[in-house]
Amino acid sequence: MFSSRVPGDLEPNRLTRAVRRARAAGTALLDLTATNPTTAGIRYPASILESLASPAALRYEPSPLGLPDARAAVARDYARYGINVAPERLVLTASTSDAYSILFKLLCAPDGDAVMLPVPSYPLFDHLTRLDGVRSIPYRLEYHGRWAIDFETVDEGWTGAVRAVLAVSPNNPTGSMLTGAERAALAERCKARDAALIIDEVFADYALSAHEPSHPDRQKAKGKREKGLEPSECLTFRLGGLSKSAGLPQVKLGWILVDGPEALARGALERLELICDTYLSVSTPVQRAAPSLIAAGAAVRADILDRIRNNDRELRTLAAPYPSIQVLPCEAGWSAVLRVPSPRTEADLVIELLERDGVLVHPGYFFDFAHESFLVVSLLPESPAFVEGVGRVLERAHA
Ligand SMILES: Cc1ncc(COP(=O)(O)O)c(C=O)c1O
Repeated sequence: MFSSRVPGDLEPNRLTRAVRRARAAGTALLDLTATNPTTAGIRYPASILESLASPAALRYEPSPLGLPDARAAVARDYARYGINVAPERLVLTASTSDAYSILFKLLCAPDGDAVMLPVPSYPLFDHLTRLDGVRSIPYRLEYHGRWAIDFETVDEGWTGAVRAVLAVSPNNPTGSMLTGAERAALAERCKARDAALIIDEVFADYALSAHEPSHPDRQKAKGKREKGLEPSECLTFRLGGLSKSAGLPQVKLGWILVDGPEALARGALERLELICDTYLSVSTPVQRAAPSLIAAGAAVRADILDRIRNNDRELRTLAAPYPSIQVLPCEAGWSAVLRVPSPRTEADLVIELLERDGVLVHPGYFFDFAHESFLVVSLLPESPAFVEGVGRVLERAHA
């Protein structure tokens, strides 16, 4: 066997095998794990991708951190959160996953250095770290009426090898946001221990309540005369991308906003330029199209927001008559978490839902919840299928 960074534990588990069997048998599934906006009946302006065919894109001008017009368009879009961003502080990437890989290369030496990751959170982090030869050390989010960082686990897990702490706000799948105090406490530790803070903000546009702006800076900026990005205490990287903000995962445009003390930020940008120059992974057509894609993305975002808010309301109404099931409070994002009784394991319940009810949901263990039993459903499916699927889940899970 050759030696490789590709994780060796890719054997399909019981659930994956059950899904394959159901699909092979042609079973029509109500898929409540679906998070692909392009196949969820979201309305896209017919002309949305026309800008990708701009003749200007025929000319290749390699620009490691991104073409100036594209960086300026992303910077301008931050005004939606009430903050000013200098285009020079932005680095364009092909996606958020690409941004993670670039940052791991920037911050971590392989096979020794580590990053701290929240759990429960986005399952891909495990692969993203391993594929860059970076060790991951988990820290916990605990649920006590709301999700909060368990700082004991941050401090217990922190070793001299930690080069960065990752936070996801809004988090997937808990929908929880970093509070100002949590962010300050992470930044303080990073500053004192010479580590960087990485904040994944890809779901920042998706507050589930119409009254709650989900981007913390939008709140802070209110009432300020001079709007500006408050510099972070420590070297900080904030991640965003069109995949979620414009519902366009296929066009492949993400970005890193470099924040923090001037000298650290400048040093990071210089080294990022070298990494990005090595790969030049962001296509010219998408960079030329960035201003139009960002503008057209507003309508898509509004449609997605309608969908997830509507499904979230439906879910809470449908679950109300089932006292043994709790739909956890959720500030923002595309997922909802249900706490359900545990007469059987999550895996058994999810397989039963699949084989007997034709509904696919994620078990909590997929996201590393600390204990059973949780189910995670996507709020993105078309509403009739969502309502039907949730109805079947509640009926099966309540007893
Ligand atoms: C928290 C989080 N970050 C990043 C991504 C991926 O974004 P991208 O498509 O830009 O790689 C996802 C995808 O679901 C996500 O949940």
